[in-house]
Amino acid sequence: MEDEPICKPLAPVDYNAVQHRTYAQGRALPADAIARYMTTFGTHLPERRPLVGVDLGSGTGRFTPALAEAFGGPVYGVEPADGMRAAAEDGSVHPRVSYLAGRAEAIPLPDATADFLLMFLSYHHVADKPAAAREIARVLRPGGRFILRSTFRDRIPHHWWRDYFPRSWDVERAMFPSEAEAQALFEAAGFRTIESVQMELPFEGDMAAAVARLNLRAVSVFEHMTEAELDEGFARLNADQARGAVVERPTYGDFIVFERPAP
Ligand SMILES: C[S@@+](CC[C@H](N)C(=O)[O-])C[C@H]1O[C@@H](n2cnc3c(N)ncnc32)[C@H](O)[C@@H]1O
Repeated sequence: MEDEPICKPLAPVDYNAVQHRTYAQGRALPADAIARYMTTFGTHLPERRPLVGVDLGSGTGRFTPALAEAFGGPVYGVEPADGMRAAAEDGSVHPRVSYLAGRAEAIPLPDATADFLLMFLSYHHVADKPAAAREIARVLRPGGRFILRSTFRDRIPHHWWRDYFPRSWDVERAMFPSEAEAQALFEAAGFRTIESVQMELPFEGDMAAAVARLNLRAVSVFEHMTEAELDEGFARLNADQARGAVVERPTYGDFIVFERPAP
């Protein structure tokens, strides 16, 4: 029998269906975790301020105000799902942030608008990735930086919750590109790879709060698992949490820094 392909097509996650109701709460990060990301990203961006930014696939605006605060802005949060964007407009307001309806394949901004563009766990949702690469090149200024924060299937993080949902390894291998594939795609669109970074992910806060947030199921891998798998995993997780047996381990996440070369 032939091996199953590693990269099975998965149905797209509809962020307008369920996730927009729980995402902001379910994926909330403590302020110091957001600050850690800003400091880390900042080491890969020009030192001058202000920097104009784009948060592409900005969701509920988890990072968008912090980007404006850290780098000056304006920052444009571009997000296709109306429900996610409405949550951002409600809960992630900042004077130098605007949220725009749009998607990576058709970014609603003029050419050479931005000094930096961040995709934070949105790349794997994009249907036409070569079109997205062309659009990111178009809206960045020459010398502008593109930070691709993604999981890559060659390095799926061993999150503290992973062992309760063992099939999530396979689901994520099917969801995410390899690092080499992502790099080749952006290099084909004219980007130069500056650095591939593995950063230790900031701790989420106290474990009881982290488990309560995870119970909201606002993680896209769960959308590709069965109710029975999720119920079983959450029952074990919640029982372990009740006896204080859930512990966080150091976990690493990836991002690649690209530059749009000057012409
Ligand atoms: C996991 S959420 C990440 C949101 C935000 N970046 C964060 O980290 O909180 C993925 C987001 O990508 C958005 N998305 C889906 N397809 C997209 C596309 N073609 N272009 C841009 N964003 C897209 C989804 O609507 C969703 O809000």
